[in-house]
Amino acid sequence: MHDAQLILDRCDELAALSSHADYLERVHLSPQHRAANDLVAQWMTEAGLSTWQDAAGNQCGRIEGREDGLPALLLGSHIDTVPDAGRFDGMLGVLLAIQVASRVEPGTLPFALEVVAFSDEEGTRFGTALLGSRALAGTWDDEWWSLTDKDGISLFEAFQDFGLDPARLPGAFRRPETLVGYLEAHIEQGPILEDADRRLAVVTSIAGARRFALTMHGKAGHAGGSPYDRRRDALVGASELVVEVERLSKQGGVVGTVGKLEAFPGGVNVIPGRVEFSLDLRAEFDDDRDAVLAQIHAAALEIAARRGLEFEQHEIYRADAVVCDLDLRSAIEAGIRATGDESPLAFWSRAGHDGMAVVAATPIAMLFLRCAGGVSHHPDEAVTKADVAAALEAFEAAVRAVADQHAL
Ligand code: GLV
Ligand code: MN
Ligand code: MN
Repeated sequence: MHDAQLILDRCDELAALSSHADYLERVHLSPQHRAANDLVAQWMTEAGLSTWQDAAGNQCGRIEGREDGLPALLLGSHIDTVPDAGRFDGMLGVLLAIQVASRVEPGTLPFALEVVAFSDEEGTRFGTALLGSRALAGTWDDEWWSLTDKDGISLFEAFQDFGLDPARLPGAFRRPETLVGYLEAHIEQGPILEDADRRLAVVTSIAGARRFALTMHGKAGHAGGSPYDRRRDALVGASELVVEVERLSKQGGVVGTVGKLEAFPGGVNVIPGRVEFSLDLRAEFDDDRDAVLAQIHAAALEIAARRGLEFEQHEIYRADAVVCDLDLRSAIEAGIRATGDESPLAFWSRAGHDGMAVVAATPIAMLFLRCAGGVSHHPDEAVTKADVAAALEAFEAAVRAVADQHAL
């Protein structure tokens, strides 16, 4: 339990590194990201890892295996957050990984062990997600350099402000032959484990997600003087579409969310002339997601035509569904069995994770840990010390099970 308490205390320490006094938000390449990398590097050093920050701002650490320079098993998660975040999404996985590494005797495993604290999984600052893990996996797109944050700072400038050289970004790429695989521990972010009264689960696959910036264009006008039959109210049209997103997503067995919406010009007595809003669409299978997307698009065009509006849609992020590797899954299952759970639960992740990007370079698998009420992306995120202790035991045993697979 001592290690579990240490991990929880460190989650508290990281939660204090926020750009807002009254809630947690720590975004990619911010001063708080700098402070978090430094703290994580210090904890990695204390755990016996040699540390470096890679060319994408990911904080990394390594313990050598039986020989120096062997391919590495990566353990990790992310240390960026959504706005008004909980303190476990991402951070808990990094701290569990460091603690597992602290329990491994250097020079004993048939591979090197590395821990990665990814710089950007959520995409809070620049809209597109998985920037840290995509750099590592070699799937970086140079078009991203011109993405801007809400203050107009480009990703290119943010790299420089953080002390990184954009020209060196390819240096973050890990060639597949230098890797053995990637394991991530993460809170479930849903209620399945709690409802089943279980602590841990193995992830079978990760949902494919697509995100869009949507705009409904109408015409602003006087809230008193404009008769209804002459209005082109962008907000009423967008609202109809928001309801359709929920209805069509439920009907199609996918998950659709409009999480951001802003009306312009934004006056109480002005008919909204333009609405900018978002769409996040996920499913276990990409075909289901894309079929519902087509229905949502058709609904948007129908609503716009009926109301004299114009509809625009830009894709800002896409990550297709990823199946977890069977050998690494069985190592995670062996890890869960080591905690006394003879028949580990297995299900797909509704949330996105760095593994979706890392899989381009090496096979991946994930361990899920129960969180209270299934709540996440909210400050009420909570885990118990006993569950963290079980996750640590399972994660360490999973690494040793991968070592057994490689010893054969
Ligand atoms: C990441 O947390 C996501 O699934 O949105
Ligand atoms: Mn998240
Ligand atoms: Mn996460």
